[in-house]
Amino acid sequence: MARISMRVDGMKVTDDVEPRTLLVQYLREGLGKTGTVIGCDTSNCGACTVHLDGDSVKSCNVLAVQADGCEVTTIEGLADTVDSDLHPVQEAFRECHGLQCGFCTPGMIMQSVDLLKRNPQPSEDEIREGIEGNLCRCTGYHNIVRAVQHAAGTEVNAL
Ligand code: FES
Ligand code: FES
Repeated sequence: MARISMRVDGMKVTDDVEPRTLLVQYLREGLGKTGTVIGCDTSNCGACTVHLDGDSVKSCNVLAVQADGCEVTTIEGLADTVDSDLHPVQEAFRECHGLQCGFCTPGMIMQSVDLLKRNPQPSEDEIREGIEGNLCRCTGYHNIVRAVQHAAGTEVNAL
């Protein structure tokens, strides 16, 4: 077992884990952070995306021990829980109907937040490129792209 400590959604946690434990497993099974989901076993879908020290990562592709000492933010810690506001990108996905079944949504939103942090006014092509590691089987991506544009204030057509 290996001792790990990190901050997850603003709370300090310390645990002993098997060195092979994936970060996504630790978040879900160790901490009950089931808002972060597992959609594949090939590191392709992006459903498990979280922020590690502010950068988006696929948490099925990171060992929990690699996050030792880091700041982890999941979809559950994105909003301001003090006054329960949604994060602006969550709000944009809600307003633009950027989801159907919702399975890809946590990862899609975490990736979009990272994209907008790096490029606050992305073009449509840049948005599509920025979320290409996140798969959605429902929406055809159109409303997801619109939601990111909405959050960036660059939406061309009002809904
Ligand atoms: S569960 Fe991590 S990429 Fe699919
Ligand atoms: S909304 Fe169903 S997978 Fe994206």
